[in-house]
Amino acid sequence: AMNTNMFENFAVQENIERLVLRGYSIVQPVEGELACGGCGGGRLAPLDVIFAEAKSLLSPQTELKGIRLLVTAGPTREAIDPVRYLTNYSSGKMGYAVAQAAVEQGAGVTLVSGPVTLPAPAGVKIVQVTTAQEMYAAVLSLYPQMDVVVKAAAVADYRPARVQETKIKKDGEMILSLVRTPDILAELGKYKQNQVLVGFASETDNLRENALAKLFPKNLEMIVANDLTEDGAGFNTDTNVVKLYFKDGQEKQLARMSKLAVAREIISEIKRIMNIAKEIS
Ligand code: C5P
Repeated sequence: AMNTNMFENFAVQENIERLVLRGYSIVQPVEGELACGGCGGGRLAPLDVIFAEAKSLLSPQTELKGIRLLVTAGPTREAIDPVRYLTNYSSGKMGYAVAQAAVEQGAGVTLVSGPVTLPAPAGVKIVQVTTAQEMYAAVLSLYPQMDVVVKAAAVADYRPARVQETKIKKDGEMILSLVRTPDILAELGKYKQNQVLVGFASETDNLRENALAKLFPKNLEMIVANDLTEDGAGFNTDTNVVKLYFKDGQEKQLARMSKLAVAREIISEIKRIMNIAKEIS
């Protein structure tokens, strides 16, 4: 942990990279209030994160060894002109926590991430994307090699019909014409072989109805639903309150807990689904 300016200094970053190459594990600092009174990256990671990392290094879990899991996280950005874009409040925290929880259990994890400021969890392969179309291309090309896909990203549903080449000047009322982006998860549902597909539903109303209206048409095994109006849930918080809905009709409400704890519950449900699938086949 240290001041942002020191942490972001090229020399420090280069030394961290060198340590990673030598096989050291790094618990990355987080963003927040710093000892000097400022705010930024460099703050000591939460103790439960340091503890979990140390624990998994000392007694690595191997239950998901050999399993390839793809997780998407963060928002997408859809350009309007060279200086403006459409996006949403997603911080990426939930998806990054899922990547961390899966790597803790020995899975081979690929994280396809929209633009966020979070550091990738140690041992995770990261693919950076910006737009929904880029996320679509990255996820679809990796899909055939995957056993599990968790789609935690808040993909923009619309993008401007055309990107202006030069900066739009202000001049009275403006109407922006939007077109749909591809529904990545629905595509994955269509071409599913044996993959376990997990989606997210962030809603402001009719949680159950809206979650189930995604679970079945998108051909998912499980959907993680959160009510954005609830305290300690949703975008940009460190905690979440979610309800899990399963293909077989089961439902499971989780208490308010850290996003890492929610992620570990999700991974444990995925393991249960995979064991069931094994028993049937
Ligand atoms: O339909 P809705 O956008 O609410 O569905 C949410 C789920 O679908 C999330 O898992 C999200 O990552 C995924 N999704 C997607 N591509 C889109 C829109 C949503 O993969 N264009």
